[in-house]
Amino acid sequence: MDGVTATPFDVARIRQDFPILSQPQARGRPLVFLDSGASAQKPRVVIDAMVRCMETAYANVHRGAYRLSELATDSYEAARGATARFLNAADPREIVFTRNSTEAMNLVAHSWGRGVMKPGQAVVISELEHHANIVPWQMLRDDRGNELRVCRVTDAGELDMDDLERHLADGKVGLVAIAHMSNVLGTVTPVERIVALAHAHGAKVLLDGSQAAVHRRVDVQAIGCDLATSCTGRPALAFSGRGWNTSTACRPSWVAAT
Ligand SMILES: Cc1ncc(COP(=O)(O)O)c(C=O)c1O
Repeated sequence: MDGVTATPFDVARIRQDFPILSQPQARGRPLVFLDSGASAQKPRVVIDAMVRCMETAYANVHRGAYRLSELATDSYEAARGATARFLNAADPREIVFTRNSTEAMNLVAHSWGRGVMKPGQAVVISELEHHANIVPWQMLRDDRGNELRVCRVTDAGELDMDDLERHLADGKVGLVAIAHMSNVLGTVTPVERIVALAHAHGAKVLLDGSQAAVHRRVDVQAIGCDLATSCTGRPALAFSGRGWNTSTACRPSWVAAT
């Protein structure tokens, strides 16, 4: 199933995890919150962890030679390990924390895009991208002249794989930057096929995993995306300002090239 596995969803049990869903409502009915794709309510375990951190272990991370700072640093690095396990990244050192997906995409566009991509290379995105995965490539095009190609979506809301192949055919594409799951249509893209096709034409793949990582188990090694998968914290039940960006298999060569 293209590197994702559906998980069972017991609504009554899951509701109990979210304190806000038990709050009395004006009309006496249980709260139903439908905007989780944009920003999810926070479960008790996340709220408690934040409070525990602020009350017992808050200090500068990686910049203090005293006990509290060491505790904070250990927690921070443990979160990197947990994130790597969550996404099945090969090594926690592949995880780079950013404020959100938008920052992660911009980080890739500003570092890899400007540092490694050659002037004649193109970027392929698709019609179902979030603007976080459009604007950085428009800026790269405007600043550096890298062509931006847009892959079509079929009337059924699926990525048009024939169109993707057409865009890749001339071998000039350096990067395919594509959503794993659309925030608008809910479309799950065939990521393993996309990666195989892109690699066959010499292109790297950046997956925008912002929605997929919330709804499904994502295995970045099985998918084989070689540049980066980014996930945003807000819909993933974390507090605002927490996202992560994980680069996978080809990271060593990527890093060596930058
Ligand atoms: C598919 C997708 N990509 C990128 C983003 C951008 O995330 P953020 O606003 O946290 O940077 C979102 C936000 O919901 C999204 O759904």
